[in-house]
Amino acid sequence: MPNHLLTVAPARAVRGALAVPGDKSISHRYVLLGALADGLTDASGLAPGADVTATMACLRALGVRIETPGPGRVRIAGRGRAAFAPPAAPLDAANSGTTMRLLAGILAGCPFETTLTGDASLSRRPMRRVIDPLTAMGARITAADGCAPLTIRGGALRAIAWRSPVASAQVKSCVLLAGLAADGRTSVHEPQPTRDHTERALPVFGGRVDVNELTVAIDGGQALVAPAVALDVPGDPSSAAVWAAAAAALPGSDVRIDGVGLNPRRLGFVAALERLGARIDIATERVRAGEPVGSIRVRHDSHGRTAIAADEVPGVIDELPVLAARAALGGGLEVSGASELRVKESDRIRALVAGLRRLGVDAVERPDGFVIDGRAQPAGGEVDAAGDHRLVMAFALVGLGARGPTTIRGADVVAVSYPAFAADLARLAP
Ligand code: S3P
Repeated sequence: MPNHLLTVAPARAVRGALAVPGDKSISHRYVLLGALADGLTDASGLAPGADVTATMACLRALGVRIETPGPGRVRIAGRGRAAFAPPAAPLDAANSGTTMRLLAGILAGCPFETTLTGDASLSRRPMRRVIDPLTAMGARITAADGCAPLTIRGGALRAIAWRSPVASAQVKSCVLLAGLAADGRTSVHEPQPTRDHTERALPVFGGRVDVNELTVAIDGGQALVAPAVALDVPGDPSSAAVWAAAAAALPGSDVRIDGVGLNPRRLGFVAALERLGARIDIATERVRAGEPVGSIRVRHDSHGRTAIAADEVPGVIDELPVLAARAALGGGLEVSGASELRVKESDRIRALVAGLRRLGVDAVERPDGFVIDGRAQPAGGEVDAAGDHRLVMAFALVGLGARGPTTIRGADVVAVSYPAFAADLARLAP
């Protein structure tokens, strides 16, 4: 159903408790590290979307045995990177930047040639940011104009000290995964703190990383081992942010998201929603495999105005579309220093602002961000998702607070991270 339509009716409030799908970033890492480790890695609560499925398909094509005994369950029979075999055909990362960039780091240490492809959106996204460090380590990579398809001839790698010009957890993780196969100590310095799931997951697989402020270092030659206990992936805070933003926007709302990841580097949206006028209670219940997990309860309080500048952007990078939608329903938001949004699954500044304007929102595009004025209630209407799962969710949220119905074209792309999105929407906003 490539042109699937999702129609959202205006709702007075969102109410209820729910669990959101497993964290996409953590799922990718558990699957990749499970393949690199020796032994059987057992994980549940995995992200059900298309992105993690793409990572598993690529690993299977490299000869890794992966079983999926039930929904969200995975068993990976890892035998280390040395057991990877040259794939018979190019590996397809589909829509997933994390798959392509992290896998590139692993393939750089494999003594054969692999081609990594992706869909039209992924083939437009910048890969130079991983090609450069991997080439400096000794991998030979060809790519047209720095974009996929990437052909990687890996082998013995030299350790490097890399200063990443972009604040990107994918770049950091790519270099660390390559560093595991290098001949000494590899370090990555990032310009701003980004999500640290790789650093938290490596020790769970018996790996050692040293974190010193913005620099992470790893020794090559470490053998990873499958964790002795089954892993459980927490709910994805980026998916939780949609319901949090909806509850913050609509008076009378009360939503609790349970079993969600509470990694501080992912919770920038909480502070932003509070400034936009929300009452938020967070309860940490446990720490699993280095990741805090608990619940987030959100209620509407008022309509505030706020700004998000460069220093805050990495902590809200995937949540900026729903924060924009929240502000469109009352208050205001000015975002700057976020030009990275232009190289996500869509040009998220252009497509977000264009879509919001179609729904009657007062939104203005800036080169590195946008400005939303939420004083007038949006009308609703018909809008295109631009092939971007996060925009489906942002436009649906505007639809909840609009005067009339909102129809989102191409809404099936939401399955990239949240296949049950429409069902959860119907439950919270009946
Ligand atoms: C991710 C890192 C972020 C984020 C993406 C997932 C990850 O991308 O936007 O959705 O799992 O490492 P960048 O590293 O490109 O900022």
